[in-house]
Amino acid sequence: MAKSEVKTSLLDNMIGVGDSVLLEPLTEDTFLENLKKRFDHCEIYTYIGDVVISVNPYRPLPIYTPAKVEEYRNRNFYELSPHIYALADEAYRSLRDQDKDQCILITGESGAGKTEASKLVMSYVAAVCGKGAEVNQVKEQLLQSNPVLEAFGNAKTVRNDNSSRFGKYMDIEFDFKGDPLGGVISNYLLEKSRVCKQPRGERNFHIFYQLLSGGSDDLLKQLKLERDFNHYNYLGQESAEVNGIDDAANFRTVKNAMQIVGFMDDEAESVLAVVAAVLKLGNIEFKPESRVNGMDESRIQDKNGLKEICELLGQDQAVLERAFSFRTVEAKQEKVSTTLNVAQAYYARDALAKNLYNRLFTWLVNRINGSIKAQTKVRKKVMGVLDIYGFEIFENNSFEQFIINYCNEKLQQIFIELTLKEEQEEYIKEGIEWTHIEYFNNAIICELIENNTNGILAMLDEECLRPGTVSDETFLEKLNQVCAVHERFESRMSKSSRFLNDTSLPHNCFRIQHYAGKVMYHVAGFVDKNNDLLYRDLSQAMWKTNHSLVKSLFPEGNPAKMSLKRPPTAGSQFRASVATLMKNLLTKNPNYIRCIKPNDQKAPLIFSEALVRHQINYLGLMENVYVRRAGYAFKQPYDPCLERYKMLCSQTWPHWRHGARDGVEVLLTELRIPSEEFSYGRSKIFIRNPRTLFKLEDQRKHRLQYLATLIQKIYRGWKCRTNFLLMKKSQIIISAWTKRYFQQKKYLRLKMVTLRIQSYIRGWKARKLLRELKHQKRCVESVTTIAAYWRGTQARRELKRLKEEARRKHAVAVIWAYWLGLKVRREYRKFFRANAGRKIYEFTIQRIMQKYFLDLRNKLPPLSPTERSWPVRPYLFLDGTHTQLRRIFHLWRCKKYRDQFTDQKRTTYEEKLEASELFKDKKALYTNSVQQPFQGDYLEISKNPKYQKLNGAVEEKILLADVVNKINRANGKGAPRIFLLTKSNFIIADQKSGQIKSNIPVMDITSVSVSKQTDGLFAVHLKEGSTAASKGDFLFTSDRLIEIITKLYRIIFSKTNQKIAVEITNEFLVQFNQDKVCVKFIQGAQKNGNLPACKRKNNRLLEVTVP
Ligand SMILES: Nc1ncnc2c1ncn2[C@@H]1O[C@H](COP(=O)(O)OP(=O)(O)O)[C@@H](O)[C@H]1O
Ligand SMILES: [Mg+2]
Repeated sequence: MAKSEVKTSLLDNMIGVGDSVLLEPLTEDTFLENLKKRFDHCEIYTYIGDVVISVNPYRPLPIYTPAKVEEYRNRNFYELSPHIYALADEAYRSLRDQDKDQCILITGESGAGKTEASKLVMSYVAAVCGKGAEVNQVKEQLLQSNPVLEAFGNAKTVRNDNSSRFGKYMDIEFDFKGDPLGGVISNYLLEKSRVCKQPRGERNFHIFYQLLSGGSDDLLKQLKLERDFNHYNYLGQESAEVNGIDDAANFRTVKNAMQIVGFMDDEAESVLAVVAAVLKLGNIEFKPESRVNGMDESRIQDKNGLKEICELLGQDQAVLERAFSFRTVEAKQEKVSTTLNVAQAYYARDALAKNLYNRLFTWLVNRINGSIKAQTKVRKKVMGVLDIYGFEIFENNSFEQFIINYCNEKLQQIFIELTLKEEQEEYIKEGIEWTHIEYFNNAIICELIENNTNGILAMLDEECLRPGTVSDETFLEKLNQVCAVHERFESRMSKSSRFLNDTSLPHNCFRIQHYAGKVMYHVAGFVDKNNDLLYRDLSQAMWKTNHSLVKSLFPEGNPAKMSLKRPPTAGSQFRASVATLMKNLLTKNPNYIRCIKPNDQKAPLIFSEALVRHQINYLGLMENVYVRRAGYAFKQPYDPCLERYKMLCSQTWPHWRHGARDGVEVLLTELRIPSEEFSYGRSKIFIRNPRTLFKLEDQRKHRLQYLATLIQKIYRGWKCRTNFLLMKKSQIIISAWTKRYFQQKKYLRLKMVTLRIQSYIRGWKARKLLRELKHQKRCVESVTTIAAYWRGTQARRELKRLKEEARRKHAVAVIWAYWLGLKVRREYRKFFRANAGRKIYEFTIQRIMQKYFLDLRNKLPPLSPTERSWPVRPYLFLDGTHTQLRRIFHLWRCKKYRDQFTDQKRTTYEEKLEASELFKDKKALYTNSVQQPFQGDYLEISKNPKYQKLNGAVEEKILLADVVNKINRANGKGAPRIFLLTKSNFIIADQKSGQIKSNIPVMDITSVSVSKQTDGLFAVHLKEGSTAASKGDFLFTSDRLIEIITKLYRIIFSKTNQKIAVEITNEFLVQFNQDKVCVKFIQGAQKNGNLPACKRKNNRLLEVTVP
């Protein structure tokens, strides 16, 4: 179902006709009636094509809610009932999507709702455009600029309680995505005369009242203000309070808005100070004073007020006072000062007040622009919203109204030109036949006012610049001369006035037939207001202040920048800015909102037909409708048209596969719509008569009802079917799952059973096989066994047979031998003696012995005495001989070995033999000594010069010389001593000096004691009573203990033929002096090599620790 079909349309549920182009019949009456009907039903918006007519409801309507914004968002213009949002949406989307700069032109009389409309457009655009913190701040600042500008630039007039007294054009700038970037506000001609004087029933600008009602007591005190409105001359005495306006609340809104827009606190304070100063200026009064020379002078009556103003503005009081009393005119480098009379002083005061306020307003606009200006330099798309003061006709119309109405005239001009031009262009573009439609063109009025040579503004400027006496009257005279022939100009002197002396027209007035009606202007004040003069003394005085804001407002007061050139007149300034504005608007795509005021009472629900009819007329709305209808009442691009009506034709419904234009053609042909009723443009279908459109709409409505039923039917069917199919599908799935579940369970059980059976069968089969295999194996084994036994039997049998055979053979041989022997003996008995057998025997023995010895000779073992081998005995009977021979051989080779020895070596071997007899298997040290060559003289005493003296002292041959450790008897410590052995003595000498310490005959030695261990300690026991034994027995230690004792033993034996006792025990007694001391060997840790550590424990015990 296409989305567009559910949408409501401009044509759905319509009250009256939403688009006046479709009015049938189309007359001014029906048009007015349609507006009224819609107005009565709260439908304040009506279209003329794409122009929105807005009738001011003068009451809040519930059609601006966020829901409405959403409803109109992204919808086609004609899709929904007419609304200002539709226009705003169209403009925004075409700006965003088609990259067309837009302007929204809002026109209408004062109080018709332009300002409200402009705010609605802005708020709609703000609501639909981009989101995000930064964007929201921009939006908020743009929206909040309104309350500030309204407070300073709006006032209550008779027509509108919140009438804009300035023109405002705001450019909202967007980036390529349509997000707002910022804005620029241009303001046009503030009605500043209102500051000093307001027409009856009107008020000054809102800010004055807001400040006095809403400012806190502190603030008012600071600004030196009184809360009472009546206190101030500039505030109209009457109508200060307005129904429906809460000034105090508005003041808070304005302050808040200023903060949001970005005003600093001190800036806001400065602004209010200027406002207060303006208000207080109005209360300054002057009184006349005559001087001697007859010149009039004025004086300020109450200087207190002036003082307060000066304080507020940071001004020097004397300077300002002087500026109110004198006027300096400069001409050709000459300065002339004249005094001001009372009237001139009042003029100066008001001029200052107006200028101050006007410049403050311009400053505010610039300041706001500074805040809301787009920060980026990227290309911007622009949507301009123009809210200019509306056409005004008052009782007394002056320069301001003239200017305002001129501006409206220009806007009307642009409207006429653009709407018609656009319409015409579209017809031509679409290739539709087009006949020109006549309409009133107000260009002629614009000419009258703005023409450069004879326009009213040009003449006013001329008057102002002209030397000589110039007054409003001279200006009127001039107008009468130049414009008298103009058809739209009337004055007492003009031709077009019906009578030469039109009494309805006062002398000091002229009248212009504006497009919106005739307006009579009083010339009084035209020249002054156009000149817009502020005495130079005043601007200079203002520049001198130290209030920075005020100073910046009067740059021309700076003497350095002073120029004699006149500033441009107000009229020419305005004309120039309007021209710029128009040029600007022409570059943009225009969107029109034409505001209509339904009554003069500002009251809701009242629709004054006469008033509205008048506006319809002068706004040219009828022409607008006619132009729209001249060709065709309704036009629409082919696509949406086909989309909307395709259900009316069977060929296009529900889908049309070809071009939209072809579709529309088929559709219209099938509906039998007369061909003169429509035309095919290039991209749009143009329908001439609204009736045709309504017919189409009617048919569509009926068809829609039918289609709705059809759709409903199909939808229900579809829904039921889908539901059914879904249920069916679900049922199948569920049953499939259930079946699967049960089958799975069954399968698992079967599988388990099968497996069990299978395993039983396999087991049974395996066992069977095993049995079979075992049987086979057994069979094989028994066969082998039987075979083995059989072979064994066979073999044994064979063996037996062979043995038997051998025995028999042997027996045969023996018998044969015996028999042969017997035969031989019998034969040879007669040849041999009886002992021949013995000789043979002996001979045989001899032969055998001979062979044995020869063999032995060849097999003799080596001659080493340690060799143990001996050839094997060949015959048993040689056993004794063989052993004997072995012994003899060994003794012989030992003798051989011994024969090689020298005497010395023999002695050594004897000693070694002796040592082995003494110590082998008794003392552990013995094994060490086996390797030692018992060299004897280790010190080589005879050769070594060191022992020359000692050598000399010893007479006998030295058999042993060595260094031993003599153990001190008292403490067991050892000291090295030379130990010498000769044939008869043993000598102990000092090792270093060679001095003999003891010389003891060996005869005195009784015995020697040693331990069983590996230590080298030995004790030499001496004969009791001998001279040598006076000190007692000796204790020595030496590695060569075995050699020493062996030698000692042999020496003593050779000397005395007695063997001394060698005691080998781990505990023995020695005689020290008179004491018998026990030497005891104990096992201990190794301390100094292999040497034993001796320690005299007490009188009776010497302990020797042996490792
Ligand atoms: N759309 C609207 N809905 C309700 N009231 C409106 C609407 N438009 C205007 N008004 C009322 O009309 C008054 C005047 O409107 P305003 O826009 O100030 O007129 P203009 O700017 O044309 O002089 C507003 O103060 C408001 O009370
Ligand atoms: Mg307004």
